[in-house]
Amino acid sequence: MEQYIMKGGNPLVGEVVIGGAKNAALGILAAAIMTDGECLIDNMPDVRDINVLLHAMEGIGARVVRKGPNEVLISGKNIDSGGSLIVDNEYIRKIRASYYLIGALLGKYKKAQVVLPGGCDIGSRPIDQHLKGFRALGAEVKIEHGMIIAEAEALRGNHIYLDVVSVGATINIMMAASMAEGNTIIENAAKEPHIVDVANFLNSMGANIKGAGTDVIRIRGVSRFHNTEYSIIPDQIEAGTFMMAAAATHGDILVKNVIPKHLEAISAKLTEIGAQVEESDDAVRVVATRRLKHTQIKTLPYPGFPTDMQPQMAITLGLSKGTSIITESIFENRFRYVEELRRMGANIKVTDGNTAIITGVEKYTGAIVSTPDLRAGAALVIAGLAAEGYTTVTQIGYILRGYERFDEKLRELGGMIEKVDSEKDANKFRFRTGTAN
Ligand code: UD1
Repeated sequence: MEQYIMKGGNPLVGEVVIGGAKNAALGILAAAIMTDGECLIDNMPDVRDINVLLHAMEGIGARVVRKGPNEVLISGKNIDSGGSLIVDNEYIRKIRASYYLIGALLGKYKKAQVVLPGGCDIGSRPIDQHLKGFRALGAEVKIEHGMIIAEAEALRGNHIYLDVVSVGATINIMMAASMAEGNTIIENAAKEPHIVDVANFLNSMGANIKGAGTDVIRIRGVSRFHNTEYSIIPDQIEAGTFMMAAAATHGDILVKNVIPKHLEAISAKLTEIGAQVEESDDAVRVVATRRLKHTQIKTLPYPGFPTDMQPQMAITLGLSKGTSIITESIFENRFRYVEELRRMGANIKVTDGNTAIITGVEKYTGAIVSTPDLRAGAALVIAGLAAEGYTTVTQIGYILRGYERFDEKLRELGGMIEKVDSEKDANKFRFRTGTAN
């Protein structure tokens, strides 16, 4: 089984280039099948979730031509609109963003059958707001045999108020509504940078979407889309993960190819706990020369502190002076990494399921830990690189879903880490890097 083995204790120092945003790319790739023309998409992250989505799109007849690891040409022209447009395979069942194919197919072909989404086990993750939006646009939606089946004679614009701020529902409704008849208003919309990116992409194909990035999005439906070329925004969470890697290992990392504005919540917290954060046009440098301080954090929709950065922040606070408190307000099951981190010597208690009380320790010590979900997995890797001795992180398939060349990028920063798939290779790593523990 694939796992990361690492020897920690070295500050991470150097430069890292951030790739395209996974969560924007998932929406954009799905939306690309809405035109019969061609979409050339650049700065696409080469990660497993993306490859699974592209494979599923090919499964319904879309043309997907990889021009390079980060560039793809997509055309929906050959999708068999007379068929039943069923999206299902063993891989797509495991990812979250399969649901974007409902919005895209329903918008264009007025019908879709997509397997219920999987994704990381970080809470119950209902999709009622997506379905409410499709129904408001005039679709009949039912769930049968594990599939979401949506169909409409015609989609008609409507006024839709989201009961919860949902990234997925906002993007999905925006896609379907962009090819509905008339005007749609989405109120209480999510404001994440990737929502703006998907809206910009749709507009580049001929959609008429205004207000993305605010909580009211206005969409005037159009009947067809055309060719486009588009470059995906940098990944805010990948960038934040490397910023935390600098903080937790007391290193100095220049995180390049980012939009510093998207990182403000993370930069502000790092500054507050004593790290030095320097912003330039498209880079952020994080320097932490000494032990950092405690703080309090509550995860919130953008522009609040992102839930996807919560585990990485906890790893940093676990090594900081004093007692910190993290309240998770988006997902109810996002502290499963705490038990693993305790094996490394962390002092963290979780109360009421959504609050972590973290008493900083001087150091973590290497251990064998298992990845519970994507972001927590990346956080455990950072903990391992900060820890004394050897750490093995297992179940890294989760991490590979969302981080491109993660171990390579960490090695370029001086991290002693390797991806291995046998105990023999792990032993070789231990032998090469010094005395085994
Ligand atoms: C997306 C991201 C995920 C990130 C999350 C929050 C993708 C593929 N995933 O997930 O990495 O952690 O945004 O930033 O982009 N909810 C409902 N009903 C719904 C939809 C959501 O109650 O119909 C609730 C959820 O349970 C959760 C909250 O709304 O408590 C936010 O979820 P949402 O923003 O939809 O997350 P995802 O789109 O699944």
